[in-house]
Amino acid sequence: MTLLEITNLTTIIPTSFGTVKAVNNLNLRIEQGSTVALVGESGCGKSMTARSVMGLIPSNGRIDCGSIRFAGLELVGLPEEDLRRLRGNRIAMIFQEPMTSLNPVLTISDQITEPLILHRRLDRQAALALALQLLHQVGISSPEERLNAYPHQLSGGQRQRVMIAMALACDPELLIADEPTTALDVTIQAQILGLIDGLQESKGLSLLLITHNLGIVAQRADHVNVMYAGRIVESAATTDILDNPLHPYTRGLLASLPENSEPGKRLQTIPGQPPNLAIPITGCPFKERCQEARSCCDIMPEQLDIGRSHLVSCWNFLS
Ligand SMILES: Nc1ncnc2c1ncn2[C@@H]1O[C@H](COP(=O)(O)OP(=O)(O)O)[C@@H](O)[C@H]1O
Ligand SMILES: [Mg+2]
Repeated sequence: MTLLEITNLTTIIPTSFGTVKAVNNLNLRIEQGSTVALVGESGCGKSMTARSVMGLIPSNGRIDCGSIRFAGLELVGLPEEDLRRLRGNRIAMIFQEPMTSLNPVLTISDQITEPLILHRRLDRQAALALALQLLHQVGISSPEERLNAYPHQLSGGQRQRVMIAMALACDPELLIADEPTTALDVTIQAQILGLIDGLQESKGLSLLLITHNLGIVAQRADHVNVMYAGRIVESAATTDILDNPLHPYTRGLLASLPENSEPGKRLQTIPGQPPNLAIPITGCPFKERCQEARSCCDIMPEQLDIGRSHLVSCWNFLS
């Protein structure tokens, strides 16, 4: 069963430099219980996609068109009150930088118990007991002592764990993890990703895993969406993306992984920068950086389905 279906989503942010098309005609689907990855370089619109689902886009931005269906319910245009209830209960998000979503003046205990008291209508004692259980579940050592700590008294890895505990407190059906490990060192990264994996399996959660690192999704995701300049340029089952990457951008991302570089050689990078999304783009958004660009790339390529749910937007496969 499909849990989340995003169709033709366009999210814009008007700024004094022009209107940023952060998400451009995006399609994405998550089957219940599966892990779907959204991968792309910084600034390509991953977080804005997640925030569109959560109803948390910046106040100057808006969803311009498209549909976001969650368990059959249309989220675009849903009143704020209903969105808030969904966020508290059925959809949860782990943010890139925990300090932006943890309240610095509340203790860990207050942050976790407040939604339990508000949304799940537990009394204080029951909420505290559950908070302890959640902290234990996410691998916080001596959780009793941590309950009265403030966020700044914890390490980055512990804050990330607290945020996961908060996300799980509402027992969500969909968890959105937005670069949950970027700010952490490699060992802690692996621990946090392992923790999310385990929780997903034990709770049957559906997971949208957002990262700029294709390597991270290799063992974790069932399906990968590669995003560039607000658009999905390639989408396929993880094995197909890894064994048969089609889009030059996907191939560039894979080639720039340390594990794919030849020993002794310098790490490959994709030359150039992603385009400024405040300036309208005509044609393929990747053409300026693409080694294989031709004159036809001045026209935006349509999405081609090569079979087995493998979609690609590149003229290499159209002409
Ligand atoms: N509050 C904002 N105001 C204006 N532009 C923004 C804002 N937040 C993000 N953007 C722009 O939206 C685009 C997508 O950003 P984002 O979704 O954060 O990318 P990612 O998560 O992939 O790094 C970028 O061009 C970024 O500069
Ligand atoms: Mg982001």
